[in-house]
Amino acid sequence: MGNVGVILMILSLIIAMASVEAKSEMSKQEKTWFRNLCRGKEKVIKLHFYVQDELSGPNKTVWEVSRSNITSISPTSFGQVRVLDNLMTAGPEKNSTELGRAQGLITFADLKQSALAMNINFVFSTGKYNGSTLCILGRNPILEMDRELPIVGGTGVFRMARGYSISNTYSYDPIQDYGVLEYTFYVAYVKESRGGLH
Ligand SMILES: *[C@@H]1O[C@H](CO)[C@@H](O)[C@H](O)[C@H]1NC(C)=O
Ligand SMILES: *[C@@H]1O[C@H](CO)[C@@H](O)[C@H](O)[C@H]1NC(C)=O
Ligand SMILES: *[C@@H]1O[C@H](CO)[C@@H](O)[C@H](O)[C@H]1NC(C)=O
Ligand SMILES: *[C@@H]1O[C@H](CO)[C@@H](O)[C@H](O)[C@H]1NC(C)=O
Repeated sequence: MGNVGVILMILSLIIAMASVEAKSEMSKQEKTWFRNLCRGKEKVIKLHFYVQDELSGPNKTVWEVSRSNITSISPTSFGQVRVLDNLMTAGPEKNSTELGRAQGLITFADLKQSALAMNINFVFSTGKYNGSTLCILGRNPILEMDRELPIVGGTGVFRMARGYSISNTYSYDPIQDYGVLEYTFYVAYVKESRGGLH
């Protein structure tokens, strides 16, 4: 190893030490919530709500992003990618209490069956869950009943979340191209001992 090599090695050591320093600096700030989290108890809850799938019209909330060459001749729309920002409501009617938004990507990812690969963030905007999110990532065979998808994580109140979701198509209006989806979440998360986020 030449002089340059030695200098580089010393430099990277200094950088590594500096970043360890930065980390312990940050941990001070994180200590409180971490302690609260350690003292916290795991809680399991059930959430039931509806998602408004507005597929066309001036206010539509689901938009195509891209498609593959095969999509237009595929019986399962294979290769189509859509982005959505759907309204979450307490009841099936569009004008019932707003709970938040379901935002993310869906990809038609099965050549033989109508099934999506989904990555959706459920962003809550009311009550004690306001500002918290839950994330779903998984396969959704959209023509089946009781479709099960994994809940892989969460933020805010839902830190350390995991669980599963059962969904069904509550209704679909082919004239308006408007669907209502019913979701039931079974979520385990750690309720911090002081109840707050920090
Ligand atoms: C679209 O949204 C606007 C504003 O919220 C509303 O006045 C209008 O009725 C909506 N149109 C449809 C077709 O839902
Ligand atoms: C996809 O379609 C384009 C034209 O629409 C064509 O040029 C291209 O070769 C096609 N690719 C494949 C892999 O079929
Ligand atoms: C909600 O919309 C339905 C029609 O879809 C209507 O009958 C009902 O009165 C509305 N409720 C409120 C609170 O606006
Ligand atoms: C949710 O939180 C936001 C940001 O803190 C706040 O502006 C809003 O009023 C809250 N909404 C409800 C329904 O509590």
